[in-house]
Amino acid sequence: MSENRRPYLDDSLGLAVQGYSWLPGRWRRAGTASAVQTRLMGRRAVGLRGPEAVRFFYDEAHVRRHGAIPEPVQGTLFGHSAIQTLDGLDHRNRKMMFLSVLKDARQVGRLAQRAGELWDEAAEDWTRRPQVVLFDESARVITRAVCEWAGVPLAAADVTRTAADLTALVDGFATLGPRHWRARRARGRCERWLADLIQQVRDGAVTAPADSVLDLVARHTETDGRLIERKRAAVELLNVIRPTVAVSWYVSFAGHALHRWPQHRQRLQAGDREWAVAFAHELRRFYPFAPFVGGLAVRDLSWRGEHIPAGAMVLLDIYGQHHDPALWPDPYRFDPGRFLDKAPGRDELIPQGGGDPHAGHRCPGEDVTLALLATLVIRLARLDFEVPQQDLTISLRRIPALPRSRVVLRVAGSARSEDAVDAVLHATPYR
Ligand code: HEM
Repeated sequence: MSENRRPYLDDSLGLAVQGYSWLPGRWRRAGTASAVQTRLMGRRAVGLRGPEAVRFFYDEAHVRRHGAIPEPVQGTLFGHSAIQTLDGLDHRNRKMMFLSVLKDARQVGRLAQRAGELWDEAAEDWTRRPQVVLFDESARVITRAVCEWAGVPLAAADVTRTAADLTALVDGFATLGPRHWRARRARGRCERWLADLIQQVRDGAVTAPADSVLDLVARHTETDGRLIERKRAAVELLNVIRPTVAVSWYVSFAGHALHRWPQHRQRLQAGDREWAVAFAHELRRFYPFAPFVGGLAVRDLSWRGEHIPAGAMVLLDIYGQHHDPALWPDPYRFDPGRFLDKAPGRDELIPQGGGDPHAGHRCPGEDVTLALLATLVIRLARLDFEVPQQDLTISLRRIPALPRSRVVLRVAGSARSEDAVDAVLHATPYR
């Protein structure tokens, strides 16, 4: 009997040891089966991939989120009672709050522009230092930009500590070791900080700039007509700030890619916007970030002849889908050209989830991610830097993955890049 027909052995250890390669490895062993059958944390789990599977997964009649997210992930990455745990009307009502600002091109442009200006400012300082760590520097630049943009006051002296806390939240969700406990402590600090801020806004002690994210979250009402509880408001405010700072993972991958494949650098240096967007898409396809997304089967389901019992975990294999040769010719070649003049299909490139963000859980922050990335990769390419000897290995066993050295640069010169500021205001995450 094939391994796929004996789905009852728990494979949590396999996931812990193999990381991003775990589901792809199960696919290989499952042969021609249309789903991977296994068990995680004692629960039946079924892995799916491919654009049709994306549509199946994002159908609320098939998969729900309530009860699906393990506590260690809520206690670090998402927060408790966050939008990621909601379904139906409650979900859509919260989602509108995010989409109203994150799908507004003017707002997205303002954030990208500010991040570009702060990068230029920081880059002058990088030239005066023997070397800098790209991951840490970009996290600080984006932390300053997103807090200012969101209307969240942040003193200059607090930037480094706050950036460290925000990246810790992402870094520690998929392990139970020291990184996890650092993330839990960081979440406690961040939620207290932002819950106090929401209270001060409501008391009139702090004025939230009109239409800022802070203003929007502080005034948000739940489906029962009541003002969102302040701790939940803090969780959702953090749900904008934290993932925006996580774009520094992709900035570090960009540093890695420019070092490995320097032939892609010239078009970025020239400020070629279409190339910058294509480069950003290829970063999101090629490099590992979220390994999969998961929910629970609402009822007994059948997917291409494979049984999915009610309550089973349904996993959408993001990393596997992005390296499936049936979708991406030569998938292990880093080739921005595959996206040139062609936005990816909605359910083909899914680093931030699939489906329609208005109807389901797809990330509302893709426009922000693309705008920041295209703006910053042009600047990165224009820096005059050397990459000293270091360990740039990216282990697929570590979730989230990152080059081991976090990309150390020796920066000899920088230039201001006014022309690259609005690189992607018209870029769409998918066609
Ligand atoms: C590093 C870049 C990012 C990555 C890799 C990423 C990835 C993801 C993924 C995989 C999901 C889950 C989709 C699902 O459950 O089906 C998600 C959801 C979400 N993301 Fe992002 N994201 C990024 C940037 C952003 C940004 C910039 C924002 C906000 C400014 C954001 C806000 C959110 C929110 C609020 C959700 C929950 C949506 C919902 O449950 O309906 N993300 N993201």
